[in-house]
Amino acid sequence: MKTDFIIVGSGIAGLNAALNIAEFGKVLLITKKRLIESSTNFAQGGIAAVLAKTDDFKKHVKDTMIAGCFHNNREAVKFMVKHGPEAIKKLMNLGVKFEIIEKKLALTREGGHSKNRIAYAGDRTGEEIEKTLVALVEKNPNITIWENTFALDLIAKNRMCYGVRVIKNNRVIDVFSRAVILATGGIGQIYKYTTNPEIATADGIAMAFKAGALTQDMEFIQFHPTALAIERKPLFLLSESLRGEGAILINSKGERFMCHAHKLAELAPRDIVAREIYSQQKLGPVYLDISHKNAAFIRKRFPKIYSTLKKKYSLDLTRDKIPVTPAAHYLCGGVKTNLNGETNIKNLCCLGEMACTGVHGANRLASNSLLEAMVFSEHAAEKIKIKRDEIKTVNKPALHLTKISSSQTCASRVIKEEIKTLMWNNVGILRSKSRLRETLVELRRLEKLLPASTTNIEIAEVKNMLTVARLIIEAAIKRKKSLGCHFVV
Ligand code: FAD
Ligand code: SIN
Repeated sequence: MKTDFIIVGSGIAGLNAALNIAEFGKVLLITKKRLIESSTNFAQGGIAAVLAKTDDFKKHVKDTMIAGCFHNNREAVKFMVKHGPEAIKKLMNLGVKFEIIEKKLALTREGGHSKNRIAYAGDRTGEEIEKTLVALVEKNPNITIWENTFALDLIAKNRMCYGVRVIKNNRVIDVFSRAVILATGGIGQIYKYTTNPEIATADGIAMAFKAGALTQDMEFIQFHPTALAIERKPLFLLSESLRGEGAILINSKGERFMCHAHKLAELAPRDIVAREIYSQQKLGPVYLDISHKNAAFIRKRFPKIYSTLKKKYSLDLTRDKIPVTPAAHYLCGGVKTNLNGETNIKNLCCLGEMACTGVHGANRLASNSLLEAMVFSEHAAEKIKIKRDEIKTVNKPALHLTKISSSQTCASRVIKEEIKTLMWNNVGILRSKSRLRETLVELRRLEKLLPASTTNIEIAEVKNMLTVARLIIEAAIKRKKSLGCHFVV
């Protein structure tokens, strides 16, 4: 089958790209579960941009570079920051309802920001963006949506991408197009404790890597400091904007410890806060406390967090100290792209969390992810629109759906849990060279237990997780010194 453009992924990056590109051709939007199932839909805190009179581009660039330990690509950072205000304006024009106070866009602050510059919709910013973009995509006659469709492989040869092989309704289908845009999100599911939804199994990065795409900065996994320390899958996030609005962190002795660790205290960059909490946890549980703030304000500002804690965990945000722990949250690296989202594979673009534009460096500044996804998907779409190449096809060896026994699926589930535990214990917040090397050996052993190729979605996901876990460790081994999220003891 043929279409003009294929987009894989229905988070902010995939949806925004689809809306733009659909003006110029037929788009097939593929997503592995329902449209809304994405990290985007989980985003709480907001989206950063220079919107206040007291703020300027230089300050946002500087904060982004400081958080990223100056490992960032400065040109990419400048580009993202400069286009930030129009990205917010565009979202508002599309119908996203950000918080307005006294007729002005309300702006909050998160870790590492020197100014209030985060636009938000309560504590469910991502849901508001996702809902708005999904409604527009569903109405667009040029966009065909395939939900519950798994992108298995790229159809690529000699660094040229021709299309995508997918599994839909238990059939393997090869779809050819002028260009393929991967926007498959993050990798959090590789770790035992994560804030990421189930879909975040690193599929796009593994697919692109298999086709010969270059990856960059894979060692920089960001751990969010404050996930709820009550075991559920995924861990529920307690937004950094709680600290932006005055929440403090206290240890098991009731002491506030971040004031001694960094001049910005609880609002220090995330890698620093996460490591501090991790070391305090050796002495006992760590808590987030906002109970000193007015209860009505807390309920109004954080309605989702307040009600989720109350209903699901019997905790009261206005009174209780909330137990927190760091959890795998975001991949700062990914498939290497230029400012147009292009990779080293012709006709293959990568966008959003799975792409490495270089803006985040060694550690992402809070709320820069939705911004990056929005700005670069907008820009890439402008470039892709002008593509007028013929749709070419290429022969890919036929693949027939193979029956998998229940014992094979069980085995792959066991392997998945092993990967998650190994990555959490050995490739987490604190790393050592010897454990990184040992883990690589373990992963190679696990790899041999899986079939070389598969049409089973569960097994394909585990294989993708293994591929990307290996890329993370190999990059971590190559980096000689600690930097940002990569911390060697
Ligand atoms: P996603 O939104 O994750 O979308 C990926 C899509 O790809 C999904 O639709 C998925 O189903 C699909 N997909 C994956 N694999 C396949 C496959 N093999 N076949 C078909 N489809 C596939 N960032 C901020 O800037 N501000 C915040 O406040 C914020 N809060 C966050 C809170 C939480 C709990 C989490 C988890 C993240 C948060 N982030 C935040 C990060 C941000 O939400 C993500 O980085 C961003 O939404 C990623 O967007 P995306 O479009 O790249 O990917
Ligand atoms: C949060 O709300 O704390 C998440 C913000 C982010 O990941 O940028």
